[in-house]
Amino acid sequence: MARVNLVDLPQLGLPRDRRHRAGWRTSHAACAAAWFGVAFSGAASAQDAARLAAGEAAWDKAGCLQCHGSTGEGGVGGEFPAGPSLRKTGLDRAALVEAISCGLPGTQMPGWLDGAYTQRSCYGFPPGPPPEGATLTPVLSADEVEALVDYLLAKIVGR
Ligand code: HEC
Repeated sequence: MARVNLVDLPQLGLPRDRRHRAGWRTSHAACAAAWFGVAFSGAASAQDAARLAAGEAAWDKAGCLQCHGSTGEGGVGGEFPAGPSLRKTGLDRAALVEAISCGLPGTQMPGWLDGAYTQRSCYGFPPGPPPEGATLTPVLSADEVEALVDYLLAKIVGR
């Protein structure tokens, strides 16, 4: 079996010899340690962790994974409609809150907020009956939607 010689693969940016390689590993480990240090001191307070756990619980409760895949990578269709990848969504925070709360009428993306359309205005329309083509599965509170969006932005969107 032909062995790939690392020296033959400079285009991949691979290290050229073992000495380099050890150095490369060490510096990466140091870099990762520094990065984790920053991430932990900055972001992962107990409060943030609880918030993300609440968001993940909302993700599980609503069953987002059935259509969007277990890590938001996009569904494959079959038993459930194939939802697009949420990792690749271009929606910002406000648009995510709106899409998740109110759904996307005319598509198979349901609205999840309890009181969407009837009590809380959706897409700028005054509260009233939901439009034709809206599917509603009102199982989340406004707070759960917010926590869910925090979770998506921290763990899924752009990952
Ligand atoms: C029954 C299947 C289904 C479930 C369950 C579902 N979705 Fe969707 N979702 C879809 C489909 C289908 C679309 C694409 C709609 C379209 O634009 O055609 C979509 C679109 C979206 C979008 C818009 C993405 C974009 O970039 O335009 C977001 C955000 C989203 N879903 C989040 C969620 C979250 C969060 C949950 C759980 C609370 C969820 N979805 C549950 C089917 C589903």
